[in-house]
Amino acid sequence: MIKTSQSIQLVDFLPEQSDRLQEVLEGLTAPNKKIEPKFLYDQYGSELFEEITQLEEYYPTRTELGIMEESLDDILAYIGEESSVIEFGSGASRKIRLLLESGLIQEYSPIDISKTFLKESAEQLAFDYPNINITGIVADYTIGFHLPAHLLDPSKKKTVFFPGSTIGNFEKQEAERFLSRISSTLSSNDGLLIGVDLKKSPSLLHRAYNDSKGVTERFNLNMLRHLNRELGANFSLDQFEHYAYYNANLGRIEMHLVSMLEQMVTVGDQHIHFDNHETIHTENSYKYSLEEFKLLAENSGFTAMKTWTDQEQLFSLHYLSVK
Ligand code: AVI
Repeated sequence: MIKTSQSIQLVDFLPEQSDRLQEVLEGLTAPNKKIEPKFLYDQYGSELFEEITQLEEYYPTRTELGIMEESLDDILAYIGEESSVIEFGSGASRKIRLLLESGLIQEYSPIDISKTFLKESAEQLAFDYPNINITGIVADYTIGFHLPAHLLDPSKKKTVFFPGSTIGNFEKQEAERFLSRISSTLSSNDGLLIGVDLKKSPSLLHRAYNDSKGVTERFNLNMLRHLNRELGANFSLDQFEHYAYYNANLGRIEMHLVSMLEQMVTVGDQHIHFDNHETIHTENSYKYSLEEFKLLAENSGFTAMKTWTDQEQLFSLHYLSVK
């Protein structure tokens, strides 16, 4: 554990590089090539994602912030006083500021896979909110890990904050497993405040993942740059194209990188063959109906207590309490 000058604690649970290489190779040698979306988030990838959240076409972030601003008192009443908030996938920690401003939260623990990004945003928060205990946790929360014991004190009310509809990046079964893991880690008075993107017009969804400035395209392609640097791969970024579309039957945006020629790429000590126009599936972003999400919550050990949405029902925020 490193104690930094801005008085945050940093705990590092990141998997070994060899495990990450193994995971990537498994995906690239499968019949339909895929790489998990967590590999989108190195330092530059996290910065590009921040840029996406500011785009006019990318409605989720501003809509969720709008919902939070409008219902802040109500949300804080569910979170309770002197509580502890643990945020999964905290990124730039922008939304949490709305909650921290209230002065009700004693302890804040952001968890993110991107170490430098997490450290910088946690230090900034520690500077801005000196009375809040901040523990930054560097971890791949998609593969399960144990939270530091002091964060699980049953006498303290805890809320897990999982905004941004990152739950949509999990397969449906994985989402249930992930939420069940959270409910079984928490105690009976604790809760989960979670943002969930809703089903809507395919053209609106299409625009959100094919923005006119090409930021999403750079974000997707940066995954290859990340693998080149971290795992010694030799992808040529100009030989792949960003491709994202809404699969209405499956209720999800699919993001792919399409090889624009037949080629061999080296990853670690393996040579991977690509056909012309063969794709690597890099992300799914599932969209839910309110009913579908509440069912998922109920099947994962939670009771759906309250749902907030914007007027157009583009996005939803839910407070779930542990059963
Ligand atoms: C982080 N996650 C919820 C984003 C999404 O919308 O699925 C990631 C993203 N991918 C492309 N644009 C944004």
